[in-house]
Amino acid sequence: MSIFFLLYNGCVLEIRGLSKIYRLGDIEVNALSDVSIKVESGEMICIMGKSGSGKSTLLRQLGLIDFPTSGSIMLEGIDVTRLAERKRSLLRLEHLGYVFQEYALIPELTALENVYLPAMMLGNHKDYKKRAYDVLELVGLEERTNHRPKELSGGEQQRVAIARALINDPKIIFADEPTANLDTVSAEKVMKTLVDLNDKLKVTVVFVSHDPDDKQYAKELVFLKDGKLVNEYI
Ligand SMILES: Nc1ncnc2c1ncn2[C@@H]1O[C@H](COP(=O)(O)OP(=O)(O)OP(=O)(O)O)[C@@H](O)[C@H]1O
Ligand SMILES: [Mg+2]
Repeated sequence: MSIFFLLYNGCVLEIRGLSKIYRLGDIEVNALSDVSIKVESGEMICIMGKSGSGKSTLLRQLGLIDFPTSGSIMLEGIDVTRLAERKRSLLRLEHLGYVFQEYALIPELTALENVYLPAMMLGNHKDYKKRAYDVLELVGLEERTNHRPKELSGGEQQRVAIARALINDPKIIFADEPTANLDTVSAEKVMKTLVDLNDKLKVTVVFVSHDPDDKQYAKELVFLKDGKLVNEYI
């Protein structure tokens, strides 16, 4: 068991004064400027803002997928901002689940295989196939375990991606625009799945949306405009 597991159980993620500058040749894009946020255990936070406001950039920093230009990221009081990639990967694999907007499923693998891959990589679930089946059941896809991604609807693929994010019992799930590519019915199913995870299993959820209607699903709202925190959706 890693030291992080022991310290991480209370699950508070805090970013302080975070900035991200993308450099493309001579051009600099200030994608995030001095953003500070605290994510408490059990929260369901929606990061909202228009296209280009920095939502995905912020989620990638929170999910330890990308490094900020300045500022710090604390996990249960431990500074994880500049951890070596191997340690970051392990932290992600053990404690964080990430749902990408475009699902990022492996096309050759079945739903079940896609879901158990992170458990296999970690090697900590003896019976990872059974566990994969259980999380697929949790997201309502027990009848689709042997389907490959192209044999599933967009909403079903998104729920497979959520099941995959759940396989290692993460404390926090990050979801980038989880409903952006879906019809209304599928979108509601996906959001209900995330709400249930938060309500019933107490998984902390941080999701991104540009749709003001998604406010209804969140317990906390964070608004971004031009890479800065603001008080309302503008
Ligand atoms: N890898 C990159 N290199 C350079 N600039 C980038 C990069 N990624 C994002 N940007 C720029 O940073 C800003 C924030 O981008 P980001 O993808 O975080 O926005 P977003 O709020 O998620 O937008 P959307 O709703 O369209 O997904 C944008 O101006 C974008 O053009
Ligand atoms: Mg985005």
